[in-house]
Amino acid sequence: MNVMEAIAARRSIRKYEDRPVEQEKIQKILESMRLAPSAGNGQKWKFFAVVDPAVIEKIGSVCLGTPDWIKTAPAILIGAGYGPGIMTCGHDTSSVDLTIPMSYASLEAVELGLGTCLIASYKQEDVCGILGLDDSWRIPLIATLGYGAEAPDARPRKDAAEVTQVI
Ligand SMILES: Cc1cc2nc3c(=O)[nH]c(=O)nc-3n(C[C@H](O)[C@H](O)[C@H](O)COP(=O)(O)O)c2cc1C
Repeated sequence: MNVMEAIAARRSIRKYEDRPVEQEKIQKILESMRLAPSAGNGQKWKFFAVVDPAVIEKIGSVCLGTPDWIKTAPAILIGAGYGPGIMTCGHDTSSVDLTIPMSYASLEAVELGLGTCLIASYKQEDVCGILGLDDSWRIPLIATLGYGAEAPDARPRKDAAEVTQVI
């Protein structure tokens, strides 16, 4: 599977088989995150793969909306960043930095036959507390991870003519 194939095959998966993710696959996904680029190669981050059901339950409990499906995921990926910083472009360094490894993880998961769903519906201080991190850490995204028990069609995207332009 090449990168474009993984991009095209990825879906947000919100239903999982009751089956653990092999440790070797978890390590490959963490490695894909570790290799991600960051502003100035700062790497002001730490990546967590949560597989302890009790901790997954706690994380699901602090997600807002309809979080029950989150608790059924066999693993949750978390990228946490530290250090203040606004880039020259005006955007927060941590938020931008951490989005990239989460994307890499979601694509590596596809290659490994796994599904993910990115989630931002939580207060980061709640997730920090569960991980034992102080409130100075930033957690812009987490992701569920596991063997999908659903195979949704591709969700619609705007036409290329509307959202792309070669200048
Ligand atoms: C930044 C970001 C935050 C998201 N937050 C949530 C979330 O809190 N809950 C959820 O169920 N899905 C969440 N998603 C998943 C999107 O709903 C999903 O990517 C979108 O509907 C397109 O579907 P697809 O991923 O299957 O292509 C999030 C996605 C992104 C990129």
